[in-house]
Amino acid sequence: MKTIAIANQKGGVGKTTTAVNLGCALAERGLRILIADLDPQGNATSSFGMQEIEGESLYDALVGNAAVADKILPTRLDRVFIVPADLDLAGAEVEIARMENHLTRLAETLRPLHDDNAFDFVLLDCPPSLGILMTNALAAADELLTPLQCEYFALEGLVKIVHVVEQVRDSGANTRVRLGGIVMTMFDSRTKLSAQVVDEVRRHFPELIYDTVVPRTVRLSEAPSFGKSILEYDSAGVGARAYRALADEFLRRHAVAAPVRQATPRIT
Ligand SMILES: Nc1ncnc2c1ncn2[C@@H]1O[C@H](COP(=O)(O)OP(=O)(O)O)[C@@H](O)[C@H]1O
Ligand SMILES: [Mg+2]
Repeated sequence: MKTIAIANQKGGVGKTTTAVNLGCALAERGLRILIADLDPQGNATSSFGMQEIEGESLYDALVGNAAVADKILPTRLDRVFIVPADLDLAGAEVEIARMENHLTRLAETLRPLHDDNAFDFVLLDCPPSLGILMTNALAAADELLTPLQCEYFALEGLVKIVHVVEQVRDSGANTRVRLGGIVMTMFDSRTKLSAQVVDEVRRHFPELIYDTVVPRTVRLSEAPSFGKSILEYDSAGVGARAYRALADEFLRRHAVAAPVRQATPRIT
């Protein structure tokens, strides 16, 4: 099991869209995926049409009153599971801050999942801030996958994240965490700017930038309101194609061959 924090302190850069659609594309390839929604806004949760589930989040598990296994719910998709979020989770920030081991609460909460080996990848959909939930995500993660929107100042935000990753490493809370990948999102082929930004990021981080670039497409922004991933909502479109390509590249980079798993009947 590998834990990937999908993080960028900026909002609206495609973290949730990437957590949900990369997760679903990996599951389509046969991997077992857990998406942990760490954003009190609960956008990943509602992307699966599960916003009605109230009072269910990682909160109780984070403060030590529940086991993470009790917070995991199946989605409609084979091999995709979620720990949902709701606004209560915002309270966890305050509560955790008071705890002694406040940096490693999430890592400890997730630890039993390593022993069970029920998932191939756990994707942590981080909130858009450098707060305690995000630093906990970095302390719990094997690596960070950072979506960057193809716009000016994309690199400046990245410098900040790299700095926080270093802080988490230096603190001893998690010495293995590293920036493992950068995904360029909302690429607009009609503007020069998008191509310039991708070039610039590639110049600075040639190893880290994914070859797959996610295009800007209204389909990707529509899918969550139907509670569907792009793979279901517009399976043959450019958005689905991009996230499938991203999943394949992700698997190559993690040296994982897609397993052949028997599809179980889908409940719709
Ligand atoms: N490639 C894309 N093309 C068009 N819209 C997108 C794309 N990626 C994300 N969006 C939309 O942009 C908004 C922000 O994306 P989101 O994934 O929620 O960002 P974050 O989680 O970083 O805040 C959402 O409304 C989402 O549907
Ligand atoms: Mg989000």
